[in-house]
Amino acid sequence: MTATTLPTPADLSITPRDRRFGRETATPRLWHGGRVEATAIYNALSSTFPIGEAYFVESVRAFREGAPPKLAEEIKAFTTQEAIHSREHDAFNKRAELAGYDLSKLEARVQDRLAITRERAPIVNVGATMALEHFTAILAHELLNNPRHLEGAEPEAADLWRWHSVEEIEHKGVAYDTWLFATRDWPRWKRWKVKAKVMLLVTRNFVVDRTAGSLELMRQDGVTGIKAWSLLLWYLWVRPGMFRKIAGAWLKFFLPGFHPWNEDDRHLLAAYPAIASGDEPKRKVRRAV
Ligand SMILES: [Fe+2]
Ligand SMILES: [Fe+2]
Repeated sequence: MTATTLPTPADLSITPRDRRFGRETATPRLWHGGRVEATAIYNALSSTFPIGEAYFVESVRAFREGAPPKLAEEIKAFTTQEAIHSREHDAFNKRAELAGYDLSKLEARVQDRLAITRERAPIVNVGATMALEHFTAILAHELLNNPRHLEGAEPEAADLWRWHSVEEIEHKGVAYDTWLFATRDWPRWKRWKVKAKVMLLVTRNFVVDRTAGSLELMRQDGVTGIKAWSLLLWYLWVRPGMFRKIAGAWLKFFLPGFHPWNEDDRHLLAAYPAIASGDEPKRKVRRAV
């Protein structure tokens, strides 16, 4: 693998933006448009980030030693971005707890899954991170591309999700390039086979766990059974239909020659200049890591 063979744009800048959200005011319990299912889905996702992103950092960092200088720099920026995401989602989750939700079951589920994966070789962990990062990148793309996903959401919370999405798009190639570097001696077929297997496993766990997590949070709002399932499935698959909308991008992962930067979607970042400007002082960023 050489830097010139990778589709990651040469002029890509991965900029950690040390933003803080929602510190001044309490977040309403049903912050997402007063909707139980929308709030539950985003809260369930957020509950996974502090634990999950620390794991991503640890998995990718394991390969920084000996990586080409450009990739090593990108890993550093990736690490800083993810550390700040964890901090902000941790604060967001605390606000959800203050509003009365109990996230402990959801967090325990992520810990259990990761405890199993951590026992495997570092290459498996970077593979799982690469697959999950594709997931977050296509969710981020859809979130920024279609304002309907955050329609009615409390503005500070919506900004948190947009800011996170901007940075997920920016660093979407880092775990993938690390994986390419880590498996540079593997035959193409083996690389594809492992990558496909990992993606299928990660997807199954993601869908099963986030569904269970969302249903648990809806239960805490007194919505259960068929009503909970229909609200959830409608929201995820029909309108706004996040899962339906990302299905095509998810499938592209399995194509030979796939790379996250085969699609340059940086125009989505420009649509949020206040978030994407990245003009925060670097001093703060270093302190946060
Ligand atoms: Fe992140
Ligand atoms: Fe990420």
